[in-house]
Formats: sequence, C-alpha cells, structure tokens
Amino acid sequence: MSDNILPSQKIFSIKDARELSRKRLPKLVFDFIDGASGDEKLAEINSRALDQIRLEPKVLRNVEKRSLKKKVLGYEFDFPFGFAPMGMTNLSWPGADSMLAAESARNNIPTCVSMASTTTLEKMYELSEGHSWMQLYIFQDENFVMELLDRAKNTGYEVAILTVDVPVLSRRTRDDKNGFSYPFKIGPKQFFDFATHPTWSLSTLLSGIPKPMNYVTSKSGDGIFKRKESRGSTDWDTLKRVRDKWKGKLIIKGVMSPDDAKLIKDAGADAIQVSNHGGRQLDSATAAINMLPLIRKSVGSEFPLIFDSGIRSGSDIVRALAFGADYAMIGRPVMYAMGADGRKGLRRIVEIIKEEASTTLGLVGLNDINDITSNIVIDSTCLLYTSPSPRDATLSRMPSSA
Ligand code: FNR
Repeated sequence: MSDNILPSQKIFSIKDARELSRKRLPKLVFDFIDGASGDEKLAEINSRALDQIRLEPKVLRNVEKRSLKKKVLGYEFDFPFGFAPMGMTNLSWPGADSMLAAESARNNIPTCVSMASTTTLEKMYELSEGHSWMQLYIFQDENFVMELLDRAKNTGYEVAILTVDVPVLSRRTRDDKNGFSYPFKIGPKQFFDFATHPTWSLSTLLSGIPKPMNYVTSKSGDGIFKRKESRGSTDWDTLKRVRDKWKGKLIIKGVMSPDDAKLIKDAGADAIQVSNHGGRQLDSATAAINMLPLIRKSVGSEFPLIFDSGIRSGSDIVRALAFGADYAMIGRPVMYAMGADGRKGLRRIVEIIKEEASTTLGLVGLNDINDITSNIVIDSTCLLYTSPSPRDATLSRMPSSA
C-alpha cells in the first residue's frame, strides 16, 4: 500500500520516541503504556538481558544484498517482526490501530489485534489487507471468546493467539496511583492531567474517547470490558476447547516454562509466543530471552517460536533469532512512536528497526536473516542454560565457562 506519509523527523531512536511520547501524553496514558508490574524491574531486566548478548563482527563476506524476509507458520513476511497485541491503542493517538494495520499491510508483516482493541477486528482485517492475527484472553464469559473466534473466522482470519499469562491481572502501581481504570473515571486528578496535555486531550476528545470495540459490537456479551475481571479459571481444558473450536493456526502467548511449552505443543498448538508480557505480569520472573533457548530445547528445532518482551532495537531482533526464535513481536516501541508523532512516528520507528536489523545482519557477515544461528553470539554471559540446543548444535560452541 502506498501513501505520502513521510517518516517523523523528530525521532532518531526508540529512546527518542519514548521521551517525546512522555511529554505529549497525559501521565495516566504514558504510564499505562510504559508501566510494568510490581517493582517494574522486569521490564528493565528484559532489555538488559538482550543487551548483554554480544555478537561477533565478521568481515570480508560481501553483504551487499541482504534479505530480511522471514517465514513463520507457513507465511512469508518481508521483515522478521510484527506488532504485538495491545489493548486501548488509540489512547496513544486517534486512529493508532488503523495506523498499525496500514503499516503492516505496507510492510507485509503481521499485526496482532488485541481482544481489547479500540477498532473492531473486522475493520482491522480490512485495513491491514489480511495481515491481522486475532488475540484473545479467556475471561469469565467463554461464550464471548467463542463468538469472537466465529467473527474472526467469518472475517477471514487464519491465525488466533490465546494469551495465557494473565490468569490474574498483576498489580500495576502506576495505574493504581494515577487512577487508570476502564471504564474511565475522570476525577479532579485525571482532569488536571488531561488539561495540562491539551494537544492530546483535544484530538482525543474530538475523535471520541477510545472504546474496546470488539466488546461494544458483541452480540453475546454485555459489551463491557472489565479489565480487572478474573481470568483465573483458564486451564488445559480451556485450551482444548479453543483448539477444538479454532481450525486455523493457534499461537499460545505468554509462555515462560519449558515444561508448559512441551505440554502446549502436545495439546496441538501451532506455535508458542515466548513472552513475559513485557514485564507486566509476574514481576519476579526472569527475562523472557533467558527462557528462549530452554524452550527451544523443550519443543525441538522445528516447532515455531515467536518472541517478545524487551526488544528495543533491530539488533535485539537478531539476538532473539540467534537464541532460537523464528519471529519477533514489538510492543511498547510502536506505542511510544505513535504517542510521539502519530502515523509519522510509527513509520519512522518501523524504518529504524528495519535498518538496524539489516545493518546488524551485514555486520555479523550474513546476507540472509534465515542464516542466523547462535554462532553469531560471542558473549554468552546471559545464556544461563548452556546445554546444546537441538535447533542447531551451535549453542555448544558457547564458551564452556558460560
Ligand atoms: C500489552 N500486551 C498485551 N498482550 C496481549 O496479549 N493482549 C493485550 O491486550 C495486551 N495489551 C497490552 C497493552 C499495552 C499498553 C502493552 C504495553 C502491552 C503485551 C504485549 O503484547 C507484549 O507482550 C509486550 O508489550 C512485549 O513487551 P515490550 O515489547 O513492550 O517490551
């Protein structure tokens, strides 16, 4: 899809985008996006662990013609990353969902549509020209989930994601402090926050307060998204029911345990998304990247693994692929980009990530992203688990002292 949107000239890095969005967005909105659970350390740990993976530069390899095309679940995408599912996206900028959809069509990459998306799943499918994957949680009302699966199937969706790492919503201190809730409650504190961010407030009010549109348009549910409602009854039987119902590709998202990964594979899932929800759930968990090699070992070399949590550059994507992922998903960075400069911001951040991934690929001496193995890793201090990966025996090349 072509359009005339020029990438933002204000953003040169994900760090810039974060900083600019922090200034433009009301505190309550920025903190909802940026925040993590409990002491919030895990969000930092995720990125730090990725950062500790050091790659070996390789020279004289003729890396003129580099390709980032990546296959996953039988689809060939132009780039090795897509957009992770995020609820209430339009809080960052009016029409943010549509921007993600359009950008995924333009780049031939997937966009994951959150159950709590501020645009209907039908519209997202249309705007993304079929590049949408549908994400679901199981709340108390399983009928609603089954209805959404029917809607997704009738729309043309081929991939569903069941997120399983929120059996209970974790404590998010910043949200509690700011009084962030859904449905929104606007007391004096929130009013002041909005009044002191007039650019955001005017544009958001003029476009209408974002709503979780899949709920609003539901026929079976009560139309209300109760963010704090328990999802604790989800279990292996739930997975079986979803698997029986959904004949398309099924990804289970939010897996951090190699044992769970094996059981999920055996239960008939088509892929696993290794993720700790960007540090927004179990705050005492470890970095998601630390579990990736172990989970790869547990499910074997051929089973599709998608990775998210902590990716803050194109080289982080290369690192995740070196650690056993087949594909990566980006969360907060795209929200920062849109919160900073809307569609232009998103375009810029996608360009930056693509450029960084391509440059990293060339500097480790490769032309094809599919040729990445753990051979490119030199400093494995954060690779806690040193047993050779069945994916490629190259992990055994890691220093034995690691
Ligand atoms: C999320 N995430 C998320 N996950 C999901 O399965 N369904 C959802 O509705 C949401 N909503 C959501 C909102 C916001 C504002 C954020 C930041 C995250 C989690 C998301 O899909 C992903 O796992 C993490 O964001 C990845 O970590 P990074 O890239 O943000 O560090």
